[in-house]
Amino acid sequence: MRSEPRIFVSSPLPGRAIEQIQEAGNVVLGKSGVGVRDEEFLEEGASFEALVTLLTDRVDAALLERLPALRLVANVAVGTDNIDLAACAARNVVVTNTPGVLTEATADLAFGLLLAAARRIAEGDRMVRSGGFQGFRFDTLVGAPVHGSTLGIVGFGRIGQAMARRARGFGMHVLYTQRSRLNPNMETALGATYVSMEEVFAQSDIVSLHCPLTDETKNLVSSKRLSTMRPGSILINTARGACVDEAALAAALREGPLGAAGLDVFARESTTSVSIDIELLACKNVVFTPHIASADLATRVAMAETAAKNLVAFFHDGNPPNVVRY
Ligand code: DGY
Repeated sequence: MRSEPRIFVSSPLPGRAIEQIQEAGNVVLGKSGVGVRDEEFLEEGASFEALVTLLTDRVDAALLERLPALRLVANVAVGTDNIDLAACAARNVVVTNTPGVLTEATADLAFGLLLAAARRIAEGDRMVRSGGFQGFRFDTLVGAPVHGSTLGIVGFGRIGQAMARRARGFGMHVLYTQRSRLNPNMETALGATYVSMEEVFAQSDIVSLHCPLTDETKNLVSSKRLSTMRPGSILINTARGACVDEAALAAALREGPLGAAGLDVFARESTTSVSIDIELLACKNVVFTPHIASADLATRVAMAETAAKNLVAFFHDGNPPNVVRY
């Protein structure tokens, strides 16, 4: 009889995820914040058949080299830019992700950043706490309008579309861009107009990124692209930090044309450290959150349990529901 597979779960997970994964094999639980970089795990890596990873766990050719028995990487995220998909495909390692379950939570946070950046909510909070609010003034923290403005959405998958639905509720006009255009019925239902990448940046008051990080989207928001944006416009990023040139963004916030930004993700994020462009950190017109777009309780549980479901299905019949094709 075949022995049970050994599974490394890189961090503690909420809900019933760990119990579910234990149905498929013997689980070794990694330390929070260390994950697959744990030397102890790597030393005994030879026998692991599956990894359950977070987006901060870098799964590259060097790691795969140390895990010769590996057959599955179940990522607890929709994004898979932490995984070298080509290297996994070359070794017949299946990769799964958690699409669908974090759509609404991510759009909620993106819209929260949009409101906070446009209406200067974080600046207001700082002013009140520091005793700077000494009574109503007509010119205190006057922000940019949300209602009636144009939102440009880059990447119109599930999350981009959820953002469009929220924007319609706020009386915004919605433009979108992505590789392929939706069918006209869906465009009408979402009230969204398809435009080119150039047009989305040039014609929007607020641009929100919802694209995956790929070779094509790395530094998509460059100084050249930022220079085409409207005076006073706003950039929201809940996708991946490396889609934006942070130094160029800082310059555009300082010298124009940008009026504000809302950022949940950063170009240099790892398991244990984040290094944000120092000029960007100094910009008062940026609202920052620490990569929490999908961090509501129900969503976190759903993400963990979706990854568990993928893993259990893989070992049951080799057919997990959310395979990432390379
Ligand atoms: C993902 O799943 O890719 C998100 O960034 C997690 O919040």
